[in-house]
Amino acid sequence: MLDINKVRADFPILSRTVNGKPLVYFDNGATSQKPQIVIDAISKYYQEINANIHRGVHTLSQLATDAYEISRGKLQNHINAKYAHEVIFTSGTTHGINAVANGFASLLKPGDEVLVSALEHHSNIVPWQMLCEKTGATLKVIPMNEKGELIMAEYDKLLSDKTKIVTVNHISNALGTVNPIKYMIDKAHEFGAAILIDGAQAVPHLKPDVQALDCDFYVFSGHKMCGPTGVGILYGKEDWLNKLPPYQGGGEMIKEVTFEKTTYADLPHKFEAGTPDVAGGIVLGTAVDYMNSIGFDNIQQQELELLEYATKRLLEIEGLKIFGTAKEKTSVISFNIEGIHPYDIGTIVDKLGIAVRTGHHCAQPIMNYFDVPGTIRASFSFYNTKEEIDIMVEAVKKAQLMLA
Ligand code: ALA
Repeated sequence: MLDINKVRADFPILSRTVNGKPLVYFDNGATSQKPQIVIDAISKYYQEINANIHRGVHTLSQLATDAYEISRGKLQNHINAKYAHEVIFTSGTTHGINAVANGFASLLKPGDEVLVSALEHHSNIVPWQMLCEKTGATLKVIPMNEKGELIMAEYDKLLSDKTKIVTVNHISNALGTVNPIKYMIDKAHEFGAAILIDGAQAVPHLKPDVQALDCDFYVFSGHKMCGPTGVGILYGKEDWLNKLPPYQGGGEMIKEVTFEKTTYADLPHKFEAGTPDVAGGIVLGTAVDYMNSIGFDNIQQQELELLEYATKRLLEIEGLKIFGTAKEKTSVISFNIEGIHPYDIGTIVDKLGIAVRTGHHCAQPIMNYFDVPGTIRASFSFYNTKEEIDIMVEAVKKAQLMLA
């Protein structure tokens, strides 16, 4: 069991006020808050070992390089990758997806097919559309039902020898659906297709085991799991990363450069052109340590309780509809109130100190499916409480009265 007061004390921002009210932070799907240990690790890096990595023989460069590589090892252990060089530092999930989609441009031809799901964030749609435009491949969409669950019977029908890559999120950012990715991975492999899992919304809640999953690629961001912004991970199976061309050219990713020809560095450097976010990479390891010290069993138990409690309390409000009622879902609730625009609710509850996301959540196809301009999304983290949910429910009721 979590000692919630002790956990909350780790996050300095949780004790601030917003618009004169205690902050209630329910926009964890957009980014998580940061514990003091992460904030301290950022300044410690700049105060003590700031230097460029993999470049100098001087002491600071070696200290920074060692810290960066130790962090890579932590990430490798965290996701259970077979090799550290399968763990590529990126600027975030979007970067990771674009790197893979770009790499597939050299492998696809007209007639090939790319499968995406109806539940994707724009960052897992647009790069694949760009890939299809470039190569003449066709983008196909795995549909969902009204609960916000992907329809596996349709997925099975869409798969064929033409399918070259399937791309799907582990958990939907807009609805919270947990997708049956193990089934999807195994099915894709039956047809010889690669599969990429967008884990951006999963890593705050669970510890993915990429070897047990057997996915070809797994991408995520650090900032949704208590880490800093600007850093993320692209995991790829060694064979795939060797097969794909690099996404960016530049320093660090080469073996030898002449004006006639360049040979590329070995993994992971082949995919890490330019000076990376050194502090971010190191501190992502600190964030992973922190999450593990809380424990993912504790995190899931707390978040499940919050999800159940908030669902029950919100449904007390007349005219409130929840979008995304999948059997398997995480602590995300998207909702609207009949006759009221989500932005109006979002603006009023903000005045009461409550942070929720309103809008299409970078998932316009999902909003189109439900025929709404957007929703209000409350996304809970392990450091949230039922008392905060009560405050939100009262604020939403107040907004409804004001706007009705
Ligand atoms: N992808 C983030 C969200 O869902 C920004 O809010």
